Amino acid sequence: MELNKDTIPRYLQERHADIALFDADAELIAEEIGDGNLNFVYRVFDAADPRCSLIIKQAPPYIKILGPAYPLTTQRLTYECRTLEVYHQLAAGAAPAPHYFDAENAVIVMEDLGGYHLLRDALIAGNVNPAIPAQIGTFLGRVHRETRAEQAAHYRKHFDNTEMQAITADYVFTLPFTEHETNFYTPGLADKVAQLKTDEAFLQKARALKSIFLTEQLGVTHGDLHTGSVMVHGDSAKIIDAEFAFYGPVGFDIGLFWANYCLSYFSHTGTAAVQAQLKTALVRTWESYAAEFKAGGKTDTLQHIFHTAAGFAGMEVLRRLIGAAHVKDIEGILDAQRKLQAETAALEFGVTLVKQYESTATVTELCALL
Ligand SMILES: Nc1ncnc2c1ncn2[C@@H]1O[C@H](COP(=O)(O)OP(=O)(O)OP(=O)(O)O)[C@@H](O)[C@H]1O
Ligand SMILES: [Mg+2]
Repeated sequence: MELNKDTIPRYLQERHADIALFDADAELIAEEIGDGNLNFVYRVFDAADPRCSLIIKQAPPYIKILGPAYPLTTQRLTYECRTLEVYHQLAAGAAPAPHYFDAENAVIVMEDLGGYHLLRDALIAGNVNPAIPAQIGTFLGRVHRETRAEQAAHYRKHFDNTEMQAITADYVFTLPFTEHETNFYTPGLADKVAQLKTDEAFLQKARALKSIFLTEQLGVTHGDLHTGSVMVHGDSAKIIDAEFAFYGPVGFDIGLFWANYCLSYFSHTGTAAVQAQLKTALVRTWESYAAEFKAGGKTDTLQHIFHTAAGFAGMEVLRRLIGAAHVKDIEGILDAQRKLQAETAALEFGVTLVKQYESTATVTELCALL
């Protein structure tokens, strides 16, 4: 059953007792808000009291923006729901509270983060709040520490999201560096992209990182933690969109988060104050992560997580420049020359990070590569 704004009020009314957020006879109004590519997302509110609202997210059995010819497992919402539950248990308030899940129709009903907006948009506007990376770092440190295999083995089998993991493996580690119809990039980058495809030192590291991505099982990994998966309001940050979550190499979350701050860094070339704040954000992310992770008394994997995070960050920067999915921070640069400069610098940074991820030992060293 595919929901739409006309059928949602009745769908919710029929499940009113399970959801228990509005009166049985409330007049509900649904509007589509999703700017995402994969799923349908609606906000639903009580006509008599618009502050009483919720979010309903449904995964169709295909990629929303491409249509039914592009199938995609609806199981993705089962993993998103499990992730919201784990986050809620380990760090209540760090993600929207899950209210109801309908596995048959791949529907999640969750808390509406009214007043929150995407972290990516804040960074594009040059609003770099150091409290946000500190919160995300602490949150990740706790989730990664508490879901370690020796801590709780059951997570591994609950997060066997192999289909979505395989998609990430292709789109981050392989396709951008081959001839593929989904790749696109600024023509001025063509020579550098061609070089990369034959750079054996780079390709060998990319293969090593892909193998870590596919085989390492350290903890519950969000799997898509870019700055469009974080919503912010003042000093508060909340994590959304966990459909790629899997039991994997937790450094991937730090790496993606860092990479998207780095892309923002290159987009703000010429604005030294914002760039300095973005570097501080990278440091804050790691410091708060490490402090929280170590609070469990476990330190032996931390340096390994750092190295892999650095390598994954490099891969993420590169695929956002030449692969299928680019970022607004860079695509929004209207001056073609400035855009090419930002992309060229980001590409060089990404390549260096991938080649040197094993020898980059501290976040200060990582910042020095920017
Ligand atoms: N709980 C929420 N409260 C408020 N707004 C939300 C909430 N969840 C999602 N949104 C809004 O809806 C948008 C799409 O949500 P989400 O990213 O989960 O969808 P998606 O289709 O999985 O996206 P993607 O293509 O990035 O995978 C978000 O960018 C955000 O603006
Ligand atoms: Mg999504």
